[in-house]
Order: sequence, then structure tokens, then C-alpha cells
Amino acid sequence: MDCKKFIEEQIADIKQIVGDAKAITALSGGVDSSLTTVLGHRALSDQLKTVFVDSALMRESEPQRVVDTFASLGIDVELVDAQEEFLSALTGLTDPEEKRQAVTDTFYSKVFSRLAKKSGARFLLHGTILTDIEETVAGIKRQHNILAQLGIDPERSYGYSIIEPLKTLRKDDVREVTEFLDFPAEISQRIPFPGPALATRIVGEVTRQRLATVRKATAIVEEELADSGAFQYMAVLLNDRATGIRDNKREFGQIIVVRCVQSTDARTATATELPWKKLHCICDRIITEIEDVNRCLYDLTPKPPATIEYI
Ligand code: XMP
Repeated sequence: MDCKKFIEEQIADIKQIVGDAKAITALSGGVDSSLTTVLGHRALSDQLKTVFVDSALMRESEPQRVVDTFASLGIDVELVDAQEEFLSALTGLTDPEEKRQAVTDTFYSKVFSRLAKKSGARFLLHGTILTDIEETVAGIKRQHNILAQLGIDPERSYGYSIIEPLKTLRKDDVREVTEFLDFPAEISQRIPFPGPALATRIVGEVTRQRLATVRKATAIVEEELADSGAFQYMAVLLNDRATGIRDNKREFGQIIVVRCVQSTDARTATATELPWKKLHCICDRIITEIEDVNRCLYDLTPKPPATIEYI
């Protein structure tokens, strides 16, 4: 693709749409929202406020890491603590689409509405990419960030309009543009992480305790597979228990699934053929370092029929 032309066109479009108004950009630290933020910043400079919403669903140390990375790029990020709002919206929900809906509602109708009102912003910049739109429109699943394509008018429902500069790109195109812009590898090579965050990796109810379990497992998997070259890797907490034995006592423990896939654009994926020794190492760490987990499984399923995430 012609990266230079794409960047110039998007910056011009954002400038033209926003005019003299104010805008907010929703940064999660992933490659899509990072590129959106940088394009927005170049187009709008001080008219743009960059926020990172701490939804309680993030990985270990994520909020501070994102603030620090963007400080090194000269972009101020405001941390917004919305932990309680997300956790209470998710309480009692086990159905995957209801969980996704709860995350969407909390992001757009609660947190961003409030932030837009407070800062006087009329626009929200958003890192939606083409694959997100296609899968939602095809009814495969409701990505947390798809609104207009589902007939939702954000202006009327939430009080602000949405600008999606990346909506014609796929993940590999986004990476190409970030490499063209010389982003630090920490951003351009970052593995995909979904907006609903660890909620997509908990089957069943999302609670603080279950989040803590999957967060620890995620840290182990990400540390062990950082050099794997895979498209995406993760830990998932199942909503089931299995019998085990520890210290000569019978226990009914939790089950973590490790998923690691090869893909170019997330539309299809295959399980990575990880070395047996590496899998053993991950398994050993998960069952010894995380309380109450006594089984660790490796998922071999391709997409389709499985999706990459678990909800
Ligand atoms: P699935 O699970 O559908 O995921 O195979 C395909 C890719 O999209 C990411 N993903 C999301 N990203 N909001 C996002 O921003 C979402 O709601 C969402 N759901 C899935 C997923 O991590 C994978 O890279």
C-alpha cells in the first residue's frame, strides 16, 4: 500500500471533519488505537485529548506502560479509572454476546459520553479496522467497537460522532503504516489485544478474582512466547473445574487454556507448532505459580471453526 498517501489523506480528513471542535481519542495501547492516536495528534494537536480507560480488564501494568510509551512519543495520555463501572456492568453475565454488549455500553454510553461532555469534545477517534467491521456485519460476533455499521447513531445515542481513520485497513496494513512511521517496535509489533480485553478470555462470569487468575496466566504466556513470532498468544480461563491432586490432597481446580496462533489478518488462523519443551515450561509455570489452577491445555483448533478469542 501507499503509506505516505494514506497518512496524508487521513490527516486531511480528520482536520476537515473536526474543524475547530475538540476530539477525544480512545487509546488502548494496541497497534490500531496507537496509529489512530498518532494520526489524530498530527491532525489536531491540542484540540485532541488522548485517554486510556482503565476498565479493570487490562493486563498486568498495562495502564502505566501505555502512559509511559506515549510520553516518550510526546503525547500526554489521561488515565481514566472506570474499573467499578465495568465490573458492575459485567456482574452476573455469562453469555458471550451479553458480556460484549455490557462492555460496549459501558465504554460508549457511560465513560465516553461523560468524558465528551466534560471536555466539550464532539468527536471520538477510534481504531476500528476492516476485519472488525466485516465480522460484525456478517453476524459472526459483535466487536465491541462497531456502532454505525449496526445502525447505531452515536451522535444521537451518545452525544458525539465517531471518526474511524483505519476502517479500510487490515491488521497487516496497519503494521505497515506504523513501520513506515517508525513507531517503536513495542507498538508496531505488539500482538493484537481486543478492546473488551481479558473479558474475551474468561468463559463465564467476569469477576475481580477470575480476572486476577487469567491476568497471571496471561503474563506467563506472554513472557514465554514473546520470541515465538506468532500472530497472537494468550491464556484463557474456562468456566469449568477438574479433579487433581496436590500435596496428597484431592482438589477440584481451575483450567487454563493456552492459545497461540499463526495468521496474517485474523480472518483465519492455525495453531502454532510450539516446541514440546516450551509447552511443558508454560504448563509447569501455570500450575505452580497460579493458585487454584491444576490443569493447563494447549488449543490446537484452527479458525474457522474456532475464533481466536473465547467469547
Ligand atoms: P476472533 O476472536 O474473532 O478475533 O477470531 C479476531 C481478532 O480480533 C480481535 N478481537 C477484537 N478486537 N474488539 C477488538 O478491538 C473486539 O471486540 C474484538 N474481538 C476480537 C482478536 O483479538 C483477534 O486478533
